[in-house]
Amino acid sequence: MTHAFSRFDPARVPSPCHVLDLVRLEENLKRLKRVADESGVEVLLALKAFSCFAVGDLISGYLAGTAASGLYEARLGKQRFGGQVHAYVPGLKEQEIDELLQYADHVIVNSLGQWQRFRGKLQQSAGVSFGLRINPGHTEVANPLYDPCSPWSRLGVPAGNVRPEDLEGLSGIHVHALCDHSYEAFDRMLGAVESHCGHLFGAIDWINLGGGLLITEEDFPLDRFIARLVDFRSRTGLKVYLEPGTAVALHAGALVSEVLDRASNIGELAIMDASATCHMPDVIEAPFTPDVLGAQTLPRDTAARAGKPDVIRLGGPTCLAGDVIGTYRFDQPLEVGDRLVLLDLAYYTMVKATTFNGTPLPALALWDSRTDALEIVREFSYEDFETRLS
Ligand SMILES: Cc1ncc(COP(=O)(O)O)c(C=O)c1O
Repeated sequence: MTHAFSRFDPARVPSPCHVLDLVRLEENLKRLKRVADESGVEVLLALKAFSCFAVGDLISGYLAGTAASGLYEARLGKQRFGGQVHAYVPGLKEQEIDELLQYADHVIVNSLGQWQRFRGKLQQSAGVSFGLRINPGHTEVANPLYDPCSPWSRLGVPAGNVRPEDLEGLSGIHVHALCDHSYEAFDRMLGAVESHCGHLFGAIDWINLGGGLLITEEDFPLDRFIARLVDFRSRTGLKVYLEPGTAVALHAGALVSEVLDRASNIGELAIMDASATCHMPDVIEAPFTPDVLGAQTLPRDTAARAGKPDVIRLGGPTCLAGDVIGTYRFDQPLEVGDRLVLLDLAYYTMVKATTFNGTPLPALALWDSRTDALEIVREFSYEDFETRLS
């Protein structure tokens, strides 16, 4: 199957530029709405992963609202997306509570200590539902960087440490234990939640099962997922929320970048105007290598291939030695001025971008892969770099 972005002309946008394919985005949203409609759960967008409010109206047409990690995301959710706003804040600050309650209709605390300390202030606001993050102690994520249930985790109260009477005044619990998983891991995680947290179900009205599921991947077994959710709801009587981030923008974004220079040092090199450390830091942190349209992605450690003219290491324009995007095999010679399309770079990239080294932020464009219509939504300037520094 050819990728939708193979029909996109990267010369039509400034470089670097994030390009969102509205068609794929809407397909993802339709899938998520199908899950909600057929299972009776409510689906929220996790803003931490993707918070481009240029598509806020499109998203709120399909989802029930947003999940925020703190005051600013709660405000963004309320003002730019609409629908419900569920705020899970790992460390609540007393001076932020009044404003947070203007935006959030669900507030989830991370500890019983925070609940005891702030419940008086929190409960002054009528109509807000409160919950507690529980750590189900079930590990599916191999990389501890992304495992909320790794030993000594600060995320949530261990399930065994919570008694039903501790939840007095709280209406729900929140669990999140997955990262880029498919249905089987969800099934195991939900089984663990049922056995470790089941003693709390009689004391609550709702449960938020977090994110971390690739629901919009083509091979995700939607029917089995929906059936499991329906069964869970009917047995527990709980209202269920899901808060995917990645799944909303999966395969819907690309990053256009231009070759600024070619060089060689044992192996072939290209300096790009997009930076791994500034524009896609997970490439270094996770790490992973984004695919590039028209090139073959090679393992990150491909020293053995150095010296082959078609094997080129792409790197960013910063001084960081490790600002390496990846190593690729190109069929065509790569020349200064060529534009490349780096695939699947929307979630956890746009939200994490920085201007380290004074590197400009990528522009943002919306593209309709069906009609080829293009809108440049935002270009960033020197002022966007300067205003954060003093
Ligand atoms: C509490 C919580 N909810 C939802 C998400 C969204 O996860 P994903 O973007 O993998 O779906 C995360 C991601 O870290 C999270 O920590």
